[in-house]
Formats: sequence, C-alpha cells, structure tokens
Amino acid sequence: MASSTSPAANAAAGVLVAMVLAAVCLHCLAAQLCEDYYDDTCPNAYDIVKKVLVDAHRSDVRIFASLIRLHFHDCFVQGCDGSLLLDGVPGVINSEKGAPPNNGSVRGFPVVDKVKAALEDACPGIVSCADILAIAAEISVELSGGPKWGILLGRLDGLTANFQSASNLPSPFDNLTILEKKFRDVGLRDPVDLVALSGAHTFGRAQCQFVTDRLYNFSGTGRPDPTLNSGYRAFLTQRCPLNGNGSALTNLDPTTPDTFDKNYYTNLEVNRGLLDSDQILKSAPEAQGVIAPIVDQFARSQDAFFKSFAQSMIKMGNIQPVTDPSMGEIRCNCRKVNDS
Ligand code: HEM
Ligand SMILES: *[C@@H]1O[C@H](CO)[C@@H](O)[C@H](O)[C@H]1NC(C)=O
Ligand SMILES: *[C@@H]1O[C@H](CO)[C@@H](O)[C@H](O)[C@H]1NC(C)=O
Ligand SMILES: *[C@@H]1O[C@H](CO)[C@@H](O)[C@H](O)[C@H]1NC(C)=O
Ligand SMILES: *[C@@H]1O[C@H](CO)[C@@H](O)[C@H](O)[C@H]1NC(C)=O
Repeated sequence: MASSTSPAANAAAGVLVAMVLAAVCLHCLAAQLCEDYYDDTCPNAYDIVKKVLVDAHRSDVRIFASLIRLHFHDCFVQGCDGSLLLDGVPGVINSEKGAPPNNGSVRGFPVVDKVKAALEDACPGIVSCADILAIAAEISVELSGGPKWGILLGRLDGLTANFQSASNLPSPFDNLTILEKKFRDVGLRDPVDLVALSGAHTFGRAQCQFVTDRLYNFSGTGRPDPTLNSGYRAFLTQRCPLNGNGSALTNLDPTTPDTFDKNYYTNLEVNRGLLDSDQILKSAPEAQGVIAPIVDQFARSQDAFFKSFAQSMIKMGNIQPVTDPSMGEIRCNCRKVNDS
C-alpha cells in the first residue's frame, strides 16, 4: 500500500464515496418512495404485472379502468396502503369493499390476486399490494393510449382497513365545494389535481343509478339537468330508462369509451359529461374562476392533460404511504394481513 496518497487518488476516492452515497440516495431515503425500489430485489416486477394485465384485458376490456380506480380508492382512504384490498374479518377488519362507494362498484380484485401470485412466484415476499395497485394504474393508462410516468415505489401494506373513511370517498352527488375539500383533505390542494385526475373518466363504465336523477328529476325539480346535452340525454334515457335497472352500465366517455385521451374534456365542453360531478367542473357557477379554464385547457391540449395527469397521479400515489416497517408489511395475500 502506498503511504502517500496523491491528490488524484484522494479525488478518486471522493468520487467513489459520492457515487456510493448517490446509490444509497437513489435507493430511497427513509420514508420516501423511489422509482428503482425493486431494481435489485425484483427487477422484472413491471413486466410481470404488465403480462398479467395484458392477459386479463383479452377477456375484459374494462379491466384497465377498473384497476386505476382501485388505486384511487386505496390512496384516498388512509393513504396508499392496500387497505382497500383487505377482505372482511368479523370483529377485526370491516372491509372497505362494503362501503357504499365501493360496494357493487369497484372491481378487478381477482386480477390483483393474479398479479400478486405471479410476483410471489418470481420474487417471494418483495412487492407490496399497495405498490401493485400503483404499477397496475400506470400500465393501465399506458396500454390505453395515455401517458407514461415514473412510478414511485416502496410502499408497505397497512395492517388495518377504514370503512368510515371509505364511505366518505368523493361521490358523484357531491358539489364542487365538497369535491375540492375532499381532495384538499388528502393533500391534493391544487385545483389542477381535481380536474386532471377526473380525466380518468375518459375510460370505463358507470351504473345508470348515478345518472337517473340528471335524466328525470334533477335536484328534485322533476326536470332533467339543464347542463345535459339534449342529444346525449336522449341517448342516455334509452340506456337508462326511468325505473329501469340501476345497475345497468353505460360508458363514462361516450366518444372513445376504452381509450385514454382528452375526450373527457371535449365532452364536458359540449355538456356531454356523464356524472354531475364531471359536468360541474365546466358548468358550475363556482367553477368559472379557476376550474373551468383548466377544463378548457385540457380540451384544447392532450399534451397539457397528459403532463398534468402524470404529475397528479404521482401526487396521488404519494398520499401517506406506509414506509415504517413497524406500521406495515409485505402481504403474502393481498386480501389479508399476514399471520391472521
Ligand atoms: C372527482 C371525484 C370522483 C368521483 C365523484 C367519481 C365517481 C365515480 C363513479 C360514480 C363511478 C362509477 C362507479 C359505478 O358505476 O359503479 C366512477 C368510475 C370510475 N372512476 Fe371515478 N370518480 C372520481 C374520481 C376519480 C379518479 C381520481 C379516478 C382515477 C384517477 C377515477 C377513475 C374512475 C374510473 C377509471 C372509473 C370506471 C371504472 C370501471 O369501469 O370499472 N375516478 N367514478
Ligand atoms: C353490499 O351490497 C350487498 C348487495 O346489495 C348487500 O347485501 C350488503 O349488505 C352490502 N354490504 C354492506 C357492508 O353494506
Ligand atoms: C355543497 O354541499 C354542501 C353539503 O351538502 C352544502 O352545505 C353547500 O351549501 C353546497 N354548496 C354549494 C355551493 O352548493
Ligand atoms: C323528484 O324529487 C323530489 C325530491 O327528491 C321528490 O319529492 C319528487 O317526488 C320527485 N319527482 C318525481 C317526478 O319523481
Ligand atoms: C341489472 O343489470 C345487472 C348488470 O348488467 C345484471 O347483472 C342484473 O342481473 C340486472 N338485474 C335485473 C333485475 O335485471
């Protein structure tokens, strides 16, 4: 060993230290999510999820929409902790699946189970169920024609469910003030988040029960919603007849039902939003200052929508993740807490 270290060697050593530090930092600082979380422990995680989703989509074109909605309903309820995925256990877990916004409405759980099984096969005990929902959401958007983004990972699965909070998820009957408050309450304070994330209604389906009041008795007036395009209303009254089956389905985006594009916003511009909570973003008096101009912007520019959507998805995925190992775990089965 040379006893005298040259300045060059010192510099080289310094660079090495910096590189090691950078590697450590890249691999998630404490309590932070990062893109390369599974790069060493489950490098093919993304491709494994993608394969299961592509397979599922062959027999179920709706599945991509259903999966991103699971991530939304997970993250808005005590953070992105996989709590939505827990089945009920009497006296222990009051499953969020039974809460009114979810019951008979959210779907896709068997596909999440398939993803989990495939990941357990490849890298047992490594990828959390909360991260599966975040990965599945991104892949679902991408495969439907939407933007890609760098998915932040490293969430643990929580140990509890929160039925009451799940019951308070945004409702299609909430007014704009309430919707903005519900987004603010989970840390999504920028009105762009509400407008951009609502753009996920560019694909998927909704049940007739959520539009019958707009068709037949809006706000107890006995009349249809005046902010509903008359041609679209004629179409919807066929699909959703008065006293018909409230569980019958209609497309959230009547123009391109399974494509992730800006048509949600172009529809709003001509009063073809399906849910009242969609159309108010353009039409409510309270929307005219800040919210409606964002709708206009996204209706003009798909690029602007995609950029904001990707940013807001990352923000939504960052709602209160569990990163402290004493507060969470990697579930073996997404439906139940380990050792229960
Ligand atoms: C702004 C507040 C929101 C409200 C009031 C709302 C409400 C709804 C309702 C009522 C449905 C139809 C459910 C059914 O008929 O069973 C639905 C479907 C859907 N929502 Fe939302 N939503 C909101 C925000 C979001 C967000 C933030 C996302 C994702 C980022 C999202 C993604 C979806 C998707 C993709 C579907 C279709 C699901 C499927 O076909 O299985 N929604 N939403
Ligand atoms: C969910 O809906 C089903 C069918 O409508 C109903 O029987 C069940 O009681 C509901 N679950 C909860 C927890 O309310
Ligand atoms: C929104 O709904 C809440 C609760 O129903 C109500 O108190 C409030 O007055 C409504 N705001 C507007 C602007 O309609
Ligand atoms: C419309 O709704 C109001 C208030 O909910 C109700 O009193 C009225 O009977 C309804 N009208 C019709 C035609 O269903
Ligand atoms: C209502 O529609 C749903 C979904 O299409 C279907 O599963 C159900 O059997 C229908 N119920 C009736 C009474 O027709």
